[in-house]
Amino acid sequence: MCGIVGYVGKQEAAPILVDGLRRLEYRGYDSAGLAVHDGQKIKVVRAVGKLRELEKALVASPLIGTTGIGHTRWATHGRVSETNAHPHVAGDVAVIHNGIIENHMALRAQLEAKGARVVSDTDTEIIAHLVDEQLRAGKDLEAAVRSSLAQVEGAYAIAVSSVKEPAKLIVAKNASPLVLGLGEGETFCGSDIPALLPYTTRMIVLDDGQLAVLTHDGVRISTLAGAPIEPAIRVIDWSPVMAEKSGYKHFMLKEIFEQPRAIEDTLRGRLDRERGDIDGAEIGLSAEDAKRVGRVYLLACGTSHHAAMIGRHYFEKLARMPATVELASEFRARDPVILPGDLVIAISQSGETLDTLMAAKLAKERGARVLAIANVMGSAIPRMADGELYTRAGPEIGVASTKCFTAQLCALLMLALYVARRRDAVSAERARELVEGMARLPHLMRDVLQGTRQLTLSLARRHLDARDVLFLGRGPSFPIALEGALKLKEISYVHAEGYAAGEMKHGPIALIDSNVPVIVLVPRDEFRDKSMSNLQEAKARGGVIVAIATEGDEEARTLADEVGEVPPADSDLLPLLTILPLQLYAYYVADLKGTDVDQPRNLAKTVTVE
Ligand code: F6R
Repeated sequence: MCGIVGYVGKQEAAPILVDGLRRLEYRGYDSAGLAVHDGQKIKVVRAVGKLRELEKALVASPLIGTTGIGHTRWATHGRVSETNAHPHVAGDVAVIHNGIIENHMALRAQLEAKGARVVSDTDTEIIAHLVDEQLRAGKDLEAAVRSSLAQVEGAYAIAVSSVKEPAKLIVAKNASPLVLGLGEGETFCGSDIPALLPYTTRMIVLDDGQLAVLTHDGVRISTLAGAPIEPAIRVIDWSPVMAEKSGYKHFMLKEIFEQPRAIEDTLRGRLDRERGDIDGAEIGLSAEDAKRVGRVYLLACGTSHHAAMIGRHYFEKLARMPATVELASEFRARDPVILPGDLVIAISQSGETLDTLMAAKLAKERGARVLAIANVMGSAIPRMADGELYTRAGPEIGVASTKCFTAQLCALLMLALYVARRRDAVSAERARELVEGMARLPHLMRDVLQGTRQLTLSLARRHLDARDVLFLGRGPSFPIALEGALKLKEISYVHAEGYAAGEMKHGPIALIDSNVPVIVLVPRDEFRDKSMSNLQEAKARGGVIVAIATEGDEEARTLADEVGEVPPADSDLLPLLTILPLQLYAYYVADLKGTDVDQPRNLAKTVTVE
């Protein structure tokens, strides 16, 4: 889950590498390092802690040179220390790596038996020693990397620099992401697109089993076995500004307020308002295919799993199809039965989450058709899928997912409606209502964000000392309660739980007392009245009640201590509105507590370990 970046060109490499790492810091932030070739030798500077520690170290020991590599780490093998930070050096070689080398113990033993001095606890250093061994046997850098990788098992995106070949990097990929950027007289590599966006929009997304030679003239790509590959160059239409804070204190706050725009972009060109339908050409699921689907499996992790739970509701309600939601890690932990006609929808912001990727691969091997909903173009999950529907939320930098969550809900609703229409499961009139409702969503979201900003800030102030917070919801509001609780715990470190409102009386109600804020989702939908009863039960136990209710709900106003309002809306669209005050609340609690909102402790944006 580390971030890697590389540069070969005519400019000083170090500032470009540090800038790239800043954009990748969300992927891991326990240590960072650079290795730059000064024309004669490779110099390395590494530091434990956030990137600013590396920057301080670079002031003390500047790195001069126009070829270099950089890394930000999320420890998997070996504790957090400068010795374990990347780049790792062996002899004439420096290596950075994202992934896990599974046979590193056996390789380490072999190398040490031959006299190598392995100084770190990492799996990565082994690659540096293997390449160095091959160089000393007389191979050039490219051949040395090729034969080293032939010995390695596991996941990797690597970049390798050698003293002997100053203006060149060799990069390779298997199961961890790697993107190449093509500039004028300069070439880049990085773990994701935003890291390279300020420098170029012409990118190549490397595939598994590919190796590339980077020079200032461009790239040459081949398979690991050496067969040449003609790459597809994509021109990325994300602007660099999308990856800047643009005056907001944190990326998370900016991304919360970007949601109306993210939804507009996700909907763009996909709504057929006249026919009340979805233009699904890109999905790769014909009308016949949609009719043949017997059952839907929604696979995801974390926040995307909460979106999947709401997706299940859409598929059951609109398309009248059996739909099952699975935590990707648990799906793989069983021996799932896939039947002919099963459709698996893998949902992932990053498109790289290993559990989701492997679960989708397992389902595909067993005969399921796989559709991906992802935000990062060209990422692993959409690449392995039979079809894809991209959310167009733009780069999400804050580790806690916000705009990608609502964009996923939007994509799931479009997909369910598309399938429902093909199966004649939903009337044209109802479909038209929904399409119209979706078109109005960005406008409603803007209202909710503006309307609840002040309230959520003042609630955050009042609840600052709360040690536990409960979130309750029923039907599609239940996943919203789970998501509200997840947002709060991951960025503010306050213990929070989301419960199905009806389940509270079966145990969790024992947690409620006058110190526990209880946030109850009671927007006006078919579940509101029952949830209002649960709100009253919580109030009767002394809980501090916050209701998220529809404007004009006088009963909610009377019963709750505070009310966050959403406008009246179609019940299937409400989750995209009710989540907004919960995101803001979590943000303000965390900000007032002074936590590192965009990079909360122990987390990483892209989780490529199991
Ligand atoms: C929480 C969060 C995580 C991710 C999860 C899956 O705010 O962001 O729970 O949702 O790690 O990530 P993706 O969607 O990239 O597969």
